[in-house]
Amino acid sequence: MIFIDACFRKQTPYTPIWLMRQAGRYLSEYQELRKQAKDFLALCSDVHLASAITLQPVEILNVDAAILFSDILVLPHAMGLPLEFAPQIGPRFLETVRTLEQVKALYSHAYKRLTYVYDTLTSVRARLDKDKALIGFSGAPWTLATYMIEGQGSKTYHHSKKMLYSQPEIVHALLEKLTSELIAYLSKQIEAGANALMIFDSWAGALELEAYLTFGWAYIQKITHALKAKHPNIPLIVFPKGVGAYLAHLSGEFEVFGCDWGTPLAMAKEILGDRYVLQGNLEPARLYNQEAMIQGVARILNTMGKDPGFIFNLGHGMLADLPRAHAIELVSLVRQKSRR
Ligand code: CP3
Repeated sequence: MIFIDACFRKQTPYTPIWLMRQAGRYLSEYQELRKQAKDFLALCSDVHLASAITLQPVEILNVDAAILFSDILVLPHAMGLPLEFAPQIGPRFLETVRTLEQVKALYSHAYKRLTYVYDTLTSVRARLDKDKALIGFSGAPWTLATYMIEGQGSKTYHHSKKMLYSQPEIVHALLEKLTSELIAYLSKQIEAGANALMIFDSWAGALELEAYLTFGWAYIQKITHALKAKHPNIPLIVFPKGVGAYLAHLSGEFEVFGCDWGTPLAMAKEILGDRYVLQGNLEPARLYNQEAMIQGVARILNTMGKDPGFIFNLGHGMLADLPRAHAIELVSLVRQKSRR
């Protein structure tokens, strides 16, 4: 698999590419299948529909990897928090976690309830072309904890930060609980058929350096350490969003570092490029305009050259109103321009 070879810095015939949020509303085929489920959670937990949606971008865009169709919030949901995906508003937990009692009340072994995730991975792996990789994923403990504490997306992270500085023991208790669930959850994804795993820390950039290292990165390191000990041949991708200024402090047992669009790739290459394969980081909004997209691709490929050690991706997820034609063109352009 070209994608897996690139994760381990082996020579590949071209730079592999896939797109974060490559399945979703910008595809009419997704919209069609979404209608068949009563809501987003029902869609994620229907093995037949989730498998079909996972495969859509591989067929439509011809990307080098499929990513499991699910969401980072299904784990906190399985831990006992009622979850709603309200149209326009986004995800929302109907209960929050703000006391030690509430942390203790969360279900243990929640990963055992997520059988539909494992079944979807197994079903997709059986149907996916053998040259294409299947990526499993989870949220990072910090990002999941913040959602659970706030109850929904936030601009200020008010409750999480207040707790972090005034009752850090509660935050650590929650992060510990999430970490042990995530190690088991991600291991199960490998056993079910995932060829690589990615950990999304979307809210990493909410914290100052010292706090991020203590409450965010330390837990990612624990997870990757545990996974590497058990599954050394499965590449691990980390994606801490918004921490370009902290790169020199970020190390651990993983193969690929995902760069968001706000992190200059030349800088990431200089600081991390010897140790980690880089993935990223085209600004998704460039896909609104063909010319802007072509320029963005040229800049990235000029920076990374044709050397192994790079996986092309967006610097964050696909947006719901991006033209699919540009996504298709992006994949073929990268393949053509990066051919060795
Ligand atoms: O990349 C993929 O194609 C795989 C599927 C995937 C989804 N969510 C599907 C989804 C992945 C990897 C995620 C991760 C995710 N979910 C993250 C981390 C990555 C990031 O974007 O920073 C986060 C923070 C979430 C939480 C989440 N889920 C939000 C904020 C939203 C609403 C945003 C929106 O675009 O409406 C979701 C819903 C969601 N997850 C959708 C999809 C396709 C849209 C659901 C719909 O209305 O059809």
